[in-house]
Amino acid sequence: MTDPGERLRSSLAADQASSPSSAGMADFDSPIAMEAMRATRVLHAADQEPFPAPNRIRVITIANQKGGVGKTTSTVNLGVALALYGLRTLVIDLDPQGNASTALGVEHTVGTPSVYDALAGDSSLGEVVHPTTASPKLLCVPATIDLAGAEIELVSVVAREHRLRRAIEAYVHELPPEERPHYVLIDCPPSLGLLTLNALVAGDEVLIPIQCEYYALEGLGQLLNNIDLVRQHLNPGISVRTILLTMYDGRTKLADQVADEVRNHFGDLVLPAVIPRNVRVSEAPGYGQSVLTYDPGSRGSTSYVEAARQLAERGVDLPPLERTGMVGVTAAPPVAGLSLGDTAAPSISHAGESVSSPRVSGERS
Ligand SMILES: Nc1ncnc2c1ncn2[C@@H]1O[C@H](COP(=O)(O)OP(=O)(O)OP(=O)(O)O)[C@@H](O)[C@H]1O
Ligand SMILES: [Mg+2]
Repeated sequence: MTDPGERLRSSLAADQASSPSSAGMADFDSPIAMEAMRATRVLHAADQEPFPAPNRIRVITIANQKGGVGKTTSTVNLGVALALYGLRTLVIDLDPQGNASTALGVEHTVGTPSVYDALAGDSSLGEVVHPTTASPKLLCVPATIDLAGAEIELVSVVAREHRLRRAIEAYVHELPPEERPHYVLIDCPPSLGLLTLNALVAGDEVLIPIQCEYYALEGLGQLLNNIDLVRQHLNPGISVRTILLTMYDGRTKLADQVADEVRNHFGDLVLPAVIPRNVRVSEAPGYGQSVLTYDPGSRGSTSYVEAARQLAERGVDLPPLERTGMVGVTAAPPVAGLSLGDTAAPSISHAGESVSSPRVSGERS
């Protein structure tokens, strides 16, 4: 049987060959010149001003139990952007589908040392970290289909919710300071099971990608509720720090309505940069690439660079975490979080579901 990735690659190559725009006839059109200029900026990121490093390691869990909202795409492209702009980044693929591994061109066939081995305790995270071709500063812990069994296998394991957090802490402590990642991005599966729970316990903060489509907020209340429970019982430092609007289609009123609703509800947690629906973004994984390396001048690429820049800029003066263990972290007052039980908070209704307002840094509770 032909490898589906191979099939997709051939079909994309055929499409490109037959596309008139690939003939180079319009090379001097100004939109193309603009795109070339944008591409140069991304391609020569190393010559540009690097993104600011965070004041402590940032472990960001990218979660939304709704499927297909751009979790993996955002993890991969933000990870590549951060790395291209100078920040050491580790992407942990925690989804048995292994999509982030595919998009980063990292082997993830059965038997490949993967995050499963680290969760099962058979390997350290350092032993299952793979390099990527996107950037020497970007490493990836791939997921193989073995991970699908982990939800069940871990049920009887002691401290099963803490497996990933402990693996990350041990990994970071083993490394000399100059090799420690600035960013650890964890790509979650579309569920609220034990894998996502491990990611919420491991993370310092959650990034929620929200697709600019109808039903975008459906199920979000449940996710926020789970984050709240994790904060109360397992990881007091966790909070939602970033919302990223994805797959925005400027031609539709709906996209604007959803974007406005999300901004009204989540305020400053929403990054100003919005990721447009862009075909290059969806083609890139077929080539084992991020959109930044596949088509650096595309709008998908430049918006992910912009989103990563804003993410990095927000990381320079983070409050210390309310937990010990992580490198450079001391006990501190609680950081911003979501208060779901707060009946005084306004709430919005979407698709028959009520979502409570988050409490944001600096706001009175
Ligand atoms: N900005 C975009 N423009 C066009 N297509 C996109 C964009 N972002 C994501 N996609 C496509 O949408 C699909 C879903 O994206 P992605 O896999 O990132 O979502 P996900 O939330 O990780 O899904 P899952 O819940 O299955 O893990 C993919 O085919 C991806 O290529
Ligand atoms: Mg995914």
